[in-house]
Amino acid sequence: SLLAKHVQELAINGYEPPQRYIRKDRDREAPIDSSLSSSVPIIDLHLISSPNSSTQQKRDEIGKLKSALTSWGIFQAIGHGIPSSLLDELRGMAKGFFDLPVEEKKKYAMNKDGTQHYLEGYGNDLVVSEDQTLEWSDRLYLLIKPKDERKLNFWPENPSRFREVLNEYSLKSNLLAEFVLNVMAESLGLEGDYFLKQTGERGTAFARFNYYPPCSRPDHVYGIKPHADGGAITLVLQDKEVEGLQVFKDGKWIKVPVLPDAILINVADQIEIMSNGVYKSPVHRVITNSEKERFSVAVFYVPDWEKEIEPAAKLISESTPRLFRKIKMKEYGDVYFQKTSRGIRAIDWAR
Ligand code: SIN
Ligand code: FE2
Repeated sequence: SLLAKHVQELAINGYEPPQRYIRKDRDREAPIDSSLSSSVPIIDLHLISSPNSSTQQKRDEIGKLKSALTSWGIFQAIGHGIPSSLLDELRGMAKGFFDLPVEEKKKYAMNKDGTQHYLEGYGNDLVVSEDQTLEWSDRLYLLIKPKDERKLNFWPENPSRFREVLNEYSLKSNLLAEFVLNVMAESLGLEGDYFLKQTGERGTAFARFNYYPPCSRPDHVYGIKPHADGGAITLVLQDKEVEGLQVFKDGKWIKVPVLPDAILINVADQIEIMSNGVYKSPVHRVITNSEKERFSVAVFYVPDWEKEIEPAAKLISESTPRLFRKIKMKEYGDVYFQKTSRGIRAIDWAR
């Protein structure tokens, strides 16, 4: 059947991962470079936002951000102003929810009846084709913005503070995303609100709670298979202790270290397109392990479905020719899910 089981049920029963979860690309795997983990860029956003920073401090930190997004497409944001107590509470909500019996969680199950617009709720990998390698993770996927489009029937009431904490985190996360999009635009010589305008007042944000149970054969499965994100930017709150995220850079996989109070920010495809390829939407994946479960919470900021996205005119020149076509976000979204489920990069279709 096209329906995937909740991975938690497979993990609890101690099964070997079923065939449909087994990676088919192990013989083609790029090496892991352990030496570069400590080079994953860390940007102190407080140095950019604080009125007490000198012009030089700001300029230096923006320079670091620019180089991070040009060469890595990700950075660990510190000094982002979201209290670590709130980050811990959100992690607690993730654990509290996934710790519930499967039957209880199924009250929030996603409707497995089709397209990206029905992704919300508790479930797992969107199954698009029979030969697709399934992912060793369960998730809870919720639209958080625009607020009037939230579907609260998918928002758990257990743990009892889930809705309150997610709402609180959404407010902070939205402000952080706006701030970062602003700095990113200015760092490219664009108006500060350039990306925000393109992203639209009705731009969407989705929170995805990820649960990666231990796996008896971690090297044979993916927690999340290699992909790049399809929206504008993504903010990821990683597990406080357990590593798993890896980013692809210069032909190698680099483990992203755990930095408990940091929020990992990555460029997604629409910023790569709007920046005419200057800022990179990195391929990344999640690897599981045989002993420890892992949780994370990603928030995806996606342009308004009706917006047409294309490279900024200011970034097109004779020496930097236009790299991407103009595409409506809704159309990109449909193609994105089809391609990504098969392990193909969607952005190449936009060239
Ligand atoms: C992802 O959203 O692609 C991975 C997030 C994570 O679990 O670190
Ligand atoms: Fe991702």
